[in-house]
Amino acid sequence: MHIISLIQQRKQGQPLSTEQMDWLVREATAGNIPDYQLATMLTVFCYEKLSAAETIAMTRAFVASGDTLSWDDVEQPVVDKHSTGGVGDKVTLALAPLLAAAGLAMPKMSGRGLGHTGGTVDKLESIPGFRTDLDSTEFRRILAGVGCAVAGQTARLVPADKLFYHLRDATDNVRELGLVTASVMSKKIAAGAPVIVLDVKSGSGAFFADQEEAAGFARMAMDIGEPLGRRVGCVITDMDQPLGHAVGNRLEVLEVLQLLSGSDGLRDLRDVLVAIGSLELVLAGSYPDIEIAGEHLNWLLDSGQALAKFDEWVKAQGGELEQLEFSPAEFSGVARHSVIAADSGWLEAVDCLAVGNAARSCGAGRLSQEDEIVPNAGLLCHAKIGDQIEAGQELVSVFIGERQAADTGEILQQLSTAFRIGKSPVTRRDSVLEMLQP
Ligand code: URA
Repeated sequence: MHIISLIQQRKQGQPLSTEQMDWLVREATAGNIPDYQLATMLTVFCYEKLSAAETIAMTRAFVASGDTLSWDDVEQPVVDKHSTGGVGDKVTLALAPLLAAAGLAMPKMSGRGLGHTGGTVDKLESIPGFRTDLDSTEFRRILAGVGCAVAGQTARLVPADKLFYHLRDATDNVRELGLVTASVMSKKIAAGAPVIVLDVKSGSGAFFADQEEAAGFARMAMDIGEPLGRRVGCVITDMDQPLGHAVGNRLEVLEVLQLLSGSDGLRDLRDVLVAIGSLELVLAGSYPDIEIAGEHLNWLLDSGQALAKFDEWVKAQGGELEQLEFSPAEFSGVARHSVIAADSGWLEAVDCLAVGNAARSCGAGRLSQEDEIVPNAGLLCHAKIGDQIEAGQELVSVFIGERQAADTGEILQQLSTAFRIGKSPVTRRDSVLEMLQP
């Protein structure tokens, strides 16, 4: 086999066989295919789309490129979750202890934030003492004792994806759905859980700008679940405005504490949490239908059991919640500013990407892997689409890191145009748009 003949075959519209895909992924990961030839092949895949069989073959070959985890020795049903990335997406922080309280086990490999979306590892590490660099023995001990554990994803899990993604990114070939599916699903399959729920976000702050594209990806991900021996469900959720109010690491942890303490001002976040959680419980076989599973999760939230599990989990990973600064008004290391509504009316639309970018500029995220996060930096967005607004009210509280102070004017300007206020009432948006079961 030779890479040139595979490129020629693919340019002529003939799909790669499983053996050819295995060879391509294996040789590329071993460093035997030059980047320029692999990048050419990836470009061809974007014009001559991957077939379903090729997507499955690529996913399998990706999984085989590195370590795989197994949870056969865990007593409880094991589940995993993945989000395609959003602004203010703190769902994993609440879902892991909630499902642990419901009797499932959730071992989760998570990433750091890059670009306008945050990462679960950064959010958790904003709790003083919280460790995500757990070795396998510690990770399994915490999982067995608590029912959930979160660690940073190791480089040994699906190394092929790292290489392919880097070249796709460098050649503007990230968006082909087959490539996205193989990339996302291989990491989930390698992580070993038999049940996987994907939170597929749709909207201006998401990887998928519209619901149809999000649903297309969801169907492809579900279709490859079965041949790869996994039960995969998807919840398509709204990302045309931030989820909840907080965007930024420690602010999001505080919001999760509020949610788990039964706050009723976080309906959108609670709806997403309960939708994903109920789908996990149904796919794991714990409940026959979504509604009954949802009732149980709501009871765990209202009775304080999910909050107690969150405390137990944070302690088990070294976190000291009592050291957290609980009042954003007294946050250290950041300066507080406000974005004020210029007009009265109704909040009509939010440029969610601009909000995510502004939070990153405050110090809550990174432009490159080397950037340092400011744990207290970020935003509290006080209004939701459909809310009535009075001129002069505070729309956003902005917490800007000391090193980012020079960008204050630009950040406030960016935020003041991100919230559009209209003269007529606007319908509120549902945060859960669609649920798809296998
Ligand atoms: N996220 C991933 O992990 N992979 C992709 O290809 C796109 C988004």
